[in-house]
Order: sequence, then structure tokens, then C-alpha cells
Amino acid sequence: MAHAGGKVILVGEHAVVYGVEAVAVGLDRGVEAHARLADACSIAIDGKPLDAENLTTVALEELRAALGAPPCHIEVELQMPAGVGLGASAAIGVAAGRALGERLGRTLTPTELLDAVGAWERVFHGNPSGIDAACAALGGCIRFRKGRGPEPLPLASSLELVIAVASPPSSTREMVARVAALRERDATRFDAQLQRIADFSRRAELCLAQGQLAELGAILAENHQVLVDWDLSTPEIERARQVALEAGALGCKVTGAGGGGCIVALCPNAGPAPLVEALRRAGFTAFSSRVAAAN
Ligand code: PMV
Repeated sequence: MAHAGGKVILVGEHAVVYGVEAVAVGLDRGVEAHARLADACSIAIDGKPLDAENLTTVALEELRAALGAPPCHIEVELQMPAGVGLGASAAIGVAAGRALGERLGRTLTPTELLDAVGAWERVFHGNPSGIDAACAALGGCIRFRKGRGPEPLPLASSLELVIAVASPPSSTREMVARVAALRERDATRFDAQLQRIADFSRRAELCLAQGQLAELGAILAENHQVLVDWDLSTPEIERARQVALEAGALGCKVTGAGGGGCIVALCPNAGPAPLVEALRRAGFTAFSSRVAAAN
């Protein structure tokens, strides 16, 4: 069995597509995958086989070809919600690539794995930045810039996050197109917003390195406002944010492609329990995730 984790973007989704640095963390929840060689590529998720036309089967064929591996069958066990901006598809790609490598007795280099998962992700998202695959492969906290690959970021102290599934899923491809249309309409305004997000990323890195969590929470809130401006929030996401903030979150934002999906909230010293309880009472699926500071 091979494992890979989901991810949340703390700062910089969408902007990362335009070359801005983003800050993201790997989740301790993810997926498990098991591989066996077969006559043709096929994949089953939580015991349900997907048909040959399913995009995930097509993506598996791309992954296999990129690794120069023979056809295989992959069994996936999902331990996280899928399609809600938490990077489940990249996590499946990374776990499947690792499982296939193990089955062939090959140790994949990080570049080999990320390139192959890039081919897998392009089936779903057209031209992904690669941030989801990088988080799934590396875990921890990373700085990510398109074309340059992930760099681990030091944390002064462990981060406690709460994630809530607030709205039905959206299509990453459509949300990326929505943002591209805004850029077409007013490039000057858009570029100024990208500059602001680049600044949020730089400040967030400092906060993480120095343990300034209140300031980090404020940055999440500011980044959220730009995402609202890009029409990536929904009434349910706003309601979930409100609940998390009233329960003591230091900051909270939509995470991932938006237009649906999840919020991420930064927990105060009291820890995640009050936030998780309040969000669940309000009807949201919520869970906590801890990003440990390296020793
Ligand atoms: O697929 P999601 O919802 O995790 O979003 C990916 C992040 C984007 O910045 C919106 C797209 C990308 O390719 O980086």
C-alpha cells in the first residue's frame, strides 16, 4: 500500500497559476493505493470500478506512460473528501505512482513522480500549476512557484488547522477560466491583486518562521477578500467562515479553486475542538489537521 496526502492552500491559489508564490500544507488525511499489473489500465475507488472512458482511467494511462510502466490495476481507498479543493485527485495520482513504482521494484525520484503526476493532473485540469501534486508528494509546509518546484518551509511551531466542506464541489478548470476572464477584462487591476497576493505569501512565510499566528490569520482574511473579489466564494462558504471566526479562528478563507468546496481556518491556542464542534453543529463536515514543525 502506498500513501499520499491531501493539501490546503494557505495563501495564493489561482495567483500561483500566474507565477506568484503560494504557501500550502499537506494534510495528514489522504489516500491509499495498491497496484497490480494487468492487461489494460483500470482503477477502482473505494471498491467501485471506474469505466474505461472515466477521466481517472484516462489519467492512469497517462501516468503509466509517463513512468514507462506496463498497464496496471489500481485500488484506491479514499480517506478524505474528493472534489472539494483538497487535492484528492493529485493525492490519488501520487499514491498510484508510488504503488506502481513499488510493484515494479523501482524507487521513483521526486522529479520522476511529480512529472508523471503532472501528466495525470493535466487530464483533469488542463494546465495545473503542480501545487497539489507537490503537496501530496512532500507533505509538511511548502512554498510553491510554478515551474520551480516545491521548497519546504520551516515552521516555528506546529500549525493546527480546521477544514470544513462548506459548499458543493466546483470544477477547478471552470474556476481557473473564471479568473482568466477577469484578467482579460482588467489586466491592470488583476496585476495589482497578484502583487498583493505575492506580498501575502512573503508575509505568511515570515509568520510561519516566527510563529506569529495572529498575523498569519489576518493574512488569510486579506487573501480571502481577493478571492471574494474574483467571485470564488459562495454564501455557504461565507456562513462557514462566520461560524469558524465566531468560534475563535484566527483567520479563515476559502481554499483551492473555490466556487464551492472548503474553508481552512487557523486555530487559536485553545486548539481545533471548539471550531470543529461549532462547524459540525452548523451542519458542515469538518475535521482538523496538524502540520508538525520539523524537529
Ligand atoms: O484543484 P484545487 O481546487 O485544489 O485548486 C488548485 C489550485 C489552483 O490554483 C486553483 C489551480 C492550480 O493549478 O494551481
